[in-house]
Amino acid sequence: GAPVEADVSKLAPGEMMTVEWRGKPVWILRRTPEMLASLEKTDGLVSDPESEKPMQPDYAKNKHRSINPEYLVAVGICTHLGCSPSEKLKSGTESGLGADWAGGFLCPCHGSLFDLAGRVYSSMPAPDNLEVPPHQYLADSLLLIG
Ligand code: FES
Repeated sequence: GAPVEADVSKLAPGEMMTVEWRGKPVWILRRTPEMLASLEKTDGLVSDPESEKPMQPDYAKNKHRSINPEYLVAVGICTHLGCSPSEKLKSGTESGLGADWAGGFLCPCHGSLFDLAGRVYSSMPAPDNLEVPPHQYLADSLLLIG
């Protein structure tokens, strides 16, 4: 498949857009400072906090899992059996984590939880963090995915 451009200039802080790349949904989430701060809290709850497992591009091997901390770019397909996690949760009701749930993604199929960097919580069915697709910035607000 051909690389896909994504113009993120209209994305407000906290908003997410989805572009299709190779038939897969690629999420681009513009994280607020609060969202980025939540990664400090989830650090101890996820199984691979620095994305050290193979199959992650080098620029995903950090806490925020991105080139520019502000933007998460991730494939919106659960690494367990390929269901589509729900995009973003504001409350912890579904997660059972209550007030400790800072937001993230929940897979409806078997309940895997991911934080706002697509890092899977420990002891979830999904074995790996959400895939970060190969991508680069052509300009400050223009991404090339693929
Ligand atoms: Fe997502 Fe099983 S497919 S938890």
